[in-house]
Amino acid sequence: MPSIIVVGLQWGDEAKGKIVDYVSQTADVVVRFNGGNNAGHTVVVGDQLYKFHTLPVGAMNPGVTSYIADGVVIDPSVLTGELDTLEERGFKVKTLKISGSAHVIMPWHKLFDRLEEERKGDRKIGTTGRGIGPCYADKVSRIGIRISEMIDPELFRARLDDVLSIKNKFLTNVYDAEPLDADVIFEDYSAYARRIAPLVTDTACEIYQAAKSGKKIVFEGAHGTLLDIDHGTYPFVTSSHVVAGGACTGTGIGPTMIDHVVGVAKSYTTRVGEGPFPSELLDETGSSIRERGKEYGTTTGRPRRCGWFDAVAVRLSTRVNSATALCLISLDVLSGFDTLQICSAYEVDGRIVNEFPTDVATLEKCKPVYEAMPGWSEDITAAKSFSDLPEAAQNYVRRIEKIVGTTVAVVSVGRRRDQTIVLRPDLLGS
Ligand code: IMO
Ligand code: MG
Repeated sequence: MPSIIVVGLQWGDEAKGKIVDYVSQTADVVVRFNGGNNAGHTVVVGDQLYKFHTLPVGAMNPGVTSYIADGVVIDPSVLTGELDTLEERGFKVKTLKISGSAHVIMPWHKLFDRLEEERKGDRKIGTTGRGIGPCYADKVSRIGIRISEMIDPELFRARLDDVLSIKNKFLTNVYDAEPLDADVIFEDYSAYARRIAPLVTDTACEIYQAAKSGKKIVFEGAHGTLLDIDHGTYPFVTSSHVVAGGACTGTGIGPTMIDHVVGVAKSYTTRVGEGPFPSELLDETGSSIRERGKEYGTTTGRPRRCGWFDAVAVRLSTRVNSATALCLISLDVLSGFDTLQICSAYEVDGRIVNEFPTDVATLEKCKPVYEAMPGWSEDITAAKSFSDLPEAAQNYVRRIEKIVGTTVAVVSVGRRRDQTIVLRPDLLGS
């Protein structure tokens, strides 16, 4: 049985959750490998809408063992809160397992996230404010606290006292803020630790064994490639390895055990937070896409910036992920436009550029070069097969496939599970 990585190809919010939900129907194992509760995944089952930030989307599928692996950062209050909410709605997550090596988001991480954004002012990143960047920074600085430490009361108290002593110096001396109280944090986190401790295991070992014994494994990516710490629009990025390679480093599974890399993109482009966005539409058309597509953040509720499909960006993402399939989401949102535009290149200082610039200074100067495509007026939300789509919609999909240089495996025409047209099941590991 195959191993499949699902990644976002834009700036997040590509509806990866929908594709993960689809491929995990027949999966044995689903793994989250990066990011934290800055992610927001929405899944619609029947008439019920579920929103996750930390839990893998695959946890919704009975019979699936879900893992939160090493590369994830965990806010224990959010994780336990999500488990409670699901249970209140009659859903019992039976087989969730958590890596002891995952790092814990501590109260000072959230505080520093906010204070740094304030300090940056105009050049702020527009983070979700969940403490993600500061938590990864501490991990890399080797002063982070891991889940395995949090669930050992004596060790946790010692680590907490040690790290907080230096963090409080920063808070009071650098940021002029109030210090945090170790006793309060210890008490709160000890309660979360008791709840989480039974779920902690050697996830890398278990996932490896599952792969070896032929189980179907889905690696569920969070965020989008253009938010990757190395390959995205730095510094307007998140702090984890979003790309497919991150599934290996964030889980402890080598690349030879991966069979498919599935990229997910919207049929247009959105972005939340600051940073360059060449095909952004600041006019009526942009607002219209936002309203039709209900483009408001799952995590922060912020209105998303909207624009035309940027094939230059998706070409870069397809390359750095070595994605073998493209899932094109929310095609239905584009019904009703007379003309659609696809950004196929950029113009920078009078030159045509076909590759996505890797530095923000150049990217900020990029002007989109558009190819116009005829739109369609039909409601396509009931289409069951590709041939049910109006010719103009088919042409739009095929043109994107050509310009990006990929194979479209799925076209989604609505949020529900049954609004998913699968053109190439083989590329999804089914
Ligand atoms: P999903 O999984 C959209 C963006 C933030 C901000 C930047 C850094 O729903 O696709 P951070 O809090 O991570 O330090 O913020 O990254 N960002 C996302 N935008 N969807 C996401 O995840 C995002 N995760 C991070 O808006 O610009
Ligand atoms: Mg999001």
